Amino acid sequence: MSNENVLEMRNVHKSFPGVKALKGVDLTIKKGSVHALMGENGAGKSTLMKILYGIFHPEEGEVIFKGQPYSVKSPIDAINRGISMIPQEISPCPNLTVASNVFLGKEITANGVKLLNQKQMVKETQALFDDLGIDIDPSVMMSEISIANAQLVAIATAVSYNADLVIMDEPTSALTEKEIDKLYDIIRDLRDKKKIAVVYISHKLDEIFTICDEVSVLRDGEYIGSDSIENFDKDRLISMMVGRTMDEFFHKEEAVIGDVLLEVKDMSLSRKFKNVSFQLKQGEVLGVAGLMGAGRTEVMEALFGYRPADSGEIFIKGEKVEIKEPIDAIKHGIAFVTEDRKLTGIFPELSIKDNMIMPDIENYLKGGLLDSKKIKENCQTQREAIAIKTPTLEQLIKNLSGGNQQKVLISRWLLTTPEILILDEPTRGIDVGAKSEIHRLIGELAKMGKSIIMISSEMPEILSMSDRIMVMHEGKCSGEISRKDATQEKILALATGEQL
Ligand SMILES: Nc1ncnc2c1ncn2[C@@H]1O[C@H](COP(=O)(O)OP(=O)(O)OP(=O)(O)O)[C@@H](O)[C@H]1O
Ligand SMILES: [Mg+2]
Repeated sequence: MSNENVLEMRNVHKSFPGVKALKGVDLTIKKGSVHALMGENGAGKSTLMKILYGIFHPEEGEVIFKGQPYSVKSPIDAINRGISMIPQEISPCPNLTVASNVFLGKEITANGVKLLNQKQMVKETQALFDDLGIDIDPSVMMSEISIANAQLVAIATAVSYNADLVIMDEPTSALTEKEIDKLYDIIRDLRDKKKIAVVYISHKLDEIFTICDEVSVLRDGEYIGSDSIENFDKDRLISMMVGRTMDEFFHKEEAVIGDVLLEVKDMSLSRKFKNVSFQLKQGEVLGVAGLMGAGRTEVMEALFGYRPADSGEIFIKGEKVEIKEPIDAIKHGIAFVTEDRKLTGIFPELSIKDNMIMPDIENYLKGGLLDSKKIKENCQTQREAIAIKTPTLEQLIKNLSGGNQQKVLISRWLLTTPEILILDEPTRGIDVGAKSEIHRLIGELAKMGKSIIMISSEMPEILSMSDRIMVMHEGKCSGEISRKDATQEKILALATGEQL
């Protein structure tokens, strides 16, 4: 093995029941480089990395790390050998402090007594956060902090082990631009000052071109190739991933927009948002932009009845409606694809099929029994429409790759044929091909006269899909921009509280 390389994986195979997740994959990582691991949802990226992190064991293959054969049985093993990882689905302990989460498994005990020294852990975590420029109080409970901050804590934790290789599996999925910049600083520091190698997984191509030095591509469990970033442009990268050329974003045509379907008037929820008013017309895609924490999700949760507002009114087709819980919203033809699939989205122990039909189960009853033929047909149609990668619809949803779980959630609500569809970060973690496909579906739904509210932190997505854009800042609507007037600069200005 060349001295330049910190890691070499050769001919790695891994199967799950019904799925060959890795079919002879190679991967070579240079010391002190940031290496992008790319591929569509279900290509095998997380599986390959979980092998390095001691979560899965390959059936075949060879791994050389720092010149030595490498085989580990647990994450603790991996950390001790010099590999740490920020998993795709972070699972913090909500009832412990932030500091305890950082120190999980390496708790400091006072004078050798088996006691968790909270004070010391808080102090050291504070020093770590200061070093990384992270502004979170280490003494608060994990349950008190936002998803974005939880992700930053996971990043800090992975970095704190002084590993030689840090794996970041979609580390920015819950971060905003500002926090992503912070992560870039952290990564540059690891690479340039500490000569640490980073494997970086993300579906956001801009990130790859900003922070990565090398790229390797997997497709369908197979190794397609590697090259340095200078030799890539977006088109080449996409075609290596999906096996054909295509556009990253679907460009929606301007639609025929009808009458006002939904009107929200002066809706407020204590400490979350204030006097929010907006309209949604038939056939319209309303983009909702803003920074993390601007209250976008909370407004939509109130509209859907998850967490009703303290005051305000909702009108549908001019009639005032009461929405106190989600079932009321569903009855009024509203559907909601949530942003956090783990907390409010999936039923992990149920099959894909059951997850899909869940909100609409009454619709599948025939003479008191479930109409399994109809269920199968509807689910199969959805599976084909957005290419859900699974051996069967009976597979437990928890066994799907992250992006494929998201596709099931979108299918779930499309099957309820709603009048108003609220999508919260619909393509987070979704690969380029499926992203374009979901955009096309949104465009088609709008054409059919459905109304769509789409919260997104991805500027190109907001710009290419919305007929009108509402921007929120600190719990208030800071402005509205029509499709033809919208620019990235204007949206950012409103999102940061500037006047246009
Ligand atoms: N625990 C498991 N049981 C069964 N199948 C699994 C399991 N984990 C992964 N798979 C399957 O292995 C394949 C590769 O999944 P993996 O999670 O590695 O994809 P990925 O490239 O990380 O995708 P994404 O971009 O969506 O995160 C998929 O078909 C997935 O359904
Ligand atoms: Mg993954």
